[in-house]
Amino acid sequence: MSQFENTRIVLASRPEGRPTPQNFRLEQAAIPAISEGQVLLKILYLSLDPYMRGRMSAAKSYAAATEIGQVMEGGTVAEVIESRDPAFKPGDIVLSYSGWQSHAAASAAQLRKLDPANAPVTTALGVLGMPGFTAYAGLLTIGQPKPGETVVVAAASGPVGSAVGQIARIKGARAVGIAGGPEKCAFVRETFGFDAVIDHRDPDMAGKLAAACPNGIDVYFENVGGHVWDAVFPLLNTFARIPVCGLVAQYNASGEFPGPDRLPMLMREVLSKSLTIRGFIQREFVAAQGPAFRKEMASWIADGSVKYKEDVVQGLENAPEALIGLLEGKNFGKLIIKL
Ligand SMILES: NC(=O)c1ccc[n+]([C@@H]2O[C@H](COP(=O)([O-])OP(=O)(O)OC[C@H]3O[C@@H](n4cnc5c(N)ncnc54)[C@H](OP(=O)(O)O)[C@@H]3O)[C@@H](O)[C@H]2O)c1
Repeated sequence: MSQFENTRIVLASRPEGRPTPQNFRLEQAAIPAISEGQVLLKILYLSLDPYMRGRMSAAKSYAAATEIGQVMEGGTVAEVIESRDPAFKPGDIVLSYSGWQSHAAASAAQLRKLDPANAPVTTALGVLGMPGFTAYAGLLTIGQPKPGETVVVAAASGPVGSAVGQIARIKGARAVGIAGGPEKCAFVRETFGFDAVIDHRDPDMAGKLAAACPNGIDVYFENVGGHVWDAVFPLLNTFARIPVCGLVAQYNASGEFPGPDRLPMLMREVLSKSLTIRGFIQREFVAAQGPAFRKEMASWIADGSVKYKEDVVQGLENAPEALIGLLEGKNFGKLIIKL
């Protein structure tokens, strides 16, 4: 890579269903010039997250779609290589939202300085960043787990699910995880310390989940939807809380959803069991809870009550395949591209 060129990946076309490598295009561009109040960044790490599939689609959502030809969006950890703002100097490491590219100009006001002495800088993209905060805010604000209750979460080896289960246990609840395959399940039980783990590829997942939740489910932190939701639904207790965080099982779906309309059944249960189902986007909680999260999560990591796993893939050019794989469970931990 020439130091005078910006290597970047743009959205080449919108996917129908599962994305393909052809939906992305790798190109070279000039390194941007910076103006007063800006810094020039060399990107070190790029976060890959399920929401990126949504940005590739033109469907109406909570955030604007990425335009065709526009650089794919994403959270990044970067090094300042030139500064026209007194708050930053070359060599500073920052959290930025610079997307899938090797270099970027950024407004100093939108950056947060990272201290590599405090924590590995990649954690700002995972356990100490947006996914960890999503778990913290969604579980504590909406889920409100109480001692002795049962909390269930899927995608339990990923950055959101693993934090949900571990925070649930800190609050005295039982954590039951759902993950894909024996290797992930073993890790969730042994390293993240969940009380029980179910493999969602097991043909008897629903039976195993019922056996793992003998007192029913008080909090279901919804990360995936699909057949996991079908197994969870009959086990929900009266007054259960369901933070709806993500539906990764259906992000690649196209056209009408299959099957009968089960909305009347859902509404009957919402009423008769006094269920609380609330969707959320993490950023709605950032202003109120961001500082408390960073302090509390850092202390949990320091005392060993929260552990995390990162899955680092080398090379920006491998980001498209890695994102496609993320939507199918090929990642194992917080997915990060090292540039
Ligand atoms: N609301 C918000 O503000 C917000 C913010 C961040 C993330 N989220 C959501 O939180 C969820 C987890 O995000 P993450 O970053 O922690 O992702 P992640 O766990 O690293 O990756 C997604 C995981 O989903 C699982 N999965 C994929 N297809 C599945 C299917 N059909 N059935 C069951 N599981 C499936 C896979 O794990 P297995 O191999 O274990 O199945 C995959 O590894 C996503 O839905 C994401 O969109 C929401």
